[in-house]
Amino acid sequence: MLGIRRKIMVAVDGSAVSDKAVNEAIWLASSHSGKFKNQLIAVFVKADRVRDYDDLFSQKIAPSGAIDKRWEKVYEHAFFVVKKLAAETDTSLETIVIEGEPAAAIVGLAKKHDVDLLVIGSTGKGAVRRAFLGSVSAEVLELAGCGVYVVRA
Ligand SMILES: Nc1ncnc2c1ncn2[C@@H]1O[C@H](COP(=O)(O)OP(=O)(O)OP(=O)(O)O)[C@@H](O)[C@H]1O
Ligand SMILES: [Mg+2]
Repeated sequence: MLGIRRKIMVAVDGSAVSDKAVNEAIWLASSHSGKFKNQLIAVFVKADRVRDYDDLFSQKIAPSGAIDKRWEKVYEHAFFVVKKLAAETDTSLETIVIEGEPAAAIVGLAKKHDVDLLVIGSTGKGAVRRAFLGSVSAEVLELAGCGVYVVRA
């Protein structure tokens, strides 16, 4: 309802599609009325699927440093667009990194934070091109306890 603060969560994996989802989430979060600003949470799940981030973990790009430092580069990259757009639109943003299986972790966090809407991309970093949904988005749709906005690739 107008005038009521909404909590929106967007899941980012650093892919172009998740950046599209970020654009939509920013648009939704920044279009509020009244004195209460909506809240946006961006989540990155540090999963076992390091192969999604081969480029960042490769010797060429991150030749040295501890594994944690390399992961930091991955988060920085994944959160870059949402941080930039949140600053530009004066949207309240919290970024969260958690470990786990992506879909379960995203849904669990959304429940914990009592979010009103989850925004995800239809596909992500996965190399396999599917017709429509990636495995994370498909599972999020199945498990989520709130509305899910799937932004198409
Ligand atoms: N590790 C992650 N952390 C946060 N959000 C994620 C993560 N992985 C995927 N997502 C979210 O889910 C959306 C769909 O990604 P998904 O992983 O389902 O597709 P894919 O990578 O193309 O396929 P797959 O991973 O099954 O090979 C992404 O655009 C992003 O919004
Ligand atoms: Mg994926």
